[in-house]
Amino acid sequence: MNRKIISLFLVMVLVLVSLVGCASAPAAEVEEDTTTVEEVPEGETVPEAIDTSDMQLTIYAGMFEEHAAKAVQQFEEETGIKTEFVRMSSGETLARIRAEKDNMTASVWYGGPADAFIAAKAEGLVVPYISPESLDIDAQFKDPEGYWTGIYVGYLGFVGNQEWLDANGLEMPQSWADLLKPEFKNEFVTAHPGSSGTAYTMLATVLQLMGEEEGYAYMQKLNEQVRQYTKSGTAPGRMIGMGEAGIGVTFLHDAIKYKEEGYKDIVISAPSEGTGYEIGAVAILANGPDQEAAKMFVDWALTKEAQELGQTVGSYQFHTKPGAENPEQAKPIEGTKLIDYDFVWAGNNRTANVEKFLEMTKTTIPTE
Ligand code: G6P
Repeated sequence: MNRKIISLFLVMVLVLVSLVGCASAPAAEVEEDTTTVEEVPEGETVPEAIDTSDMQLTIYAGMFEEHAAKAVQQFEEETGIKTEFVRMSSGETLARIRAEKDNMTASVWYGGPADAFIAAKAEGLVVPYISPESLDIDAQFKDPEGYWTGIYVGYLGFVGNQEWLDANGLEMPQSWADLLKPEFKNEFVTAHPGSSGTAYTMLATVLQLMGEEEGYAYMQKLNEQVRQYTKSGTAPGRMIGMGEAGIGVTFLHDAIKYKEEGYKDIVISAPSEGTGYEIGAVAILANGPDQEAAKMFVDWALTKEAQELGQTVGSYQFHTKPGAENPEQAKPIEGTKLIDYDFVWAGNNRTANVEKFLEMTKTTIPTE
């Protein structure tokens, strides 16, 4: 009996010991794991921290000045790379990088519709870079070979001044056809497709929607309505807000920005036939002096945090990065009817379309 009690006691002790052993196992495993993380597998080298103290970067920016300034400031703060930017409209940037082809002074093109980037790709003015940050961005928002990647999406539409419309007993245009109404003659402002990505989006939209023959005939008639062609795509919104003209074409998020800034008479609408849209892009310029810093900028620009910066300074485009929060201010235009805009066609035919437009309208590309 005594022997039995002793063996029972021994069995209990053994069970207890093994239980205590089990309970302490995870801690040991965690410790082990930590060491494994720090170990570098044989044959691989530890990546060196990049010394950015001597790095600098020049960017050609196509979005609003405030947006570019905010982005550059944040990037500089996070990386230590001295960064500066020049804001230009799409057509201006394209002309500049064509001229600088053999002596590029900037390394990144940041913002503005992808059509011009596609034209630049065909001319060897941008180089491919598939950022790790681009991998989860939907294929429709990026070049398959990495020549450009989408950072935002904006919808084209109409902007009007409600006070002017009321004073003249008119309704906001609701279709492309409405823009040709005689009452809008000399009251319509738009940027010029030769200088502005916004206006080129309009030209390419009309040509795709109506077909080239009918589309050019329409543009010819629209040209008769124009009070002024502006250089940049955002100028019509501001002019209409100030009551300098009745109606115009713009990216809808730009009109929303001006209304928020206090141009309270601004109203917007989108054409019932459907409208075109932009994919704002980022790309690395060929032969730019700071290729390493340029890659770091592209990686940064494709993050959720970088995309969400725009809306803190009045840039209300939709984002391309999964998980990035779209601006509240763009909610009312979410359901806008879009055409199946062909970016590759628009980009590859950009030069020819602009030349034809210039010839047909006998206009010149505005410089301011
Ligand atoms: C504004 C818009 C951008 C657009 C850009 C095009 O900044 O907010 O979404 O990409 O205009 O500018 P552009 O002068 O070339 O029409």
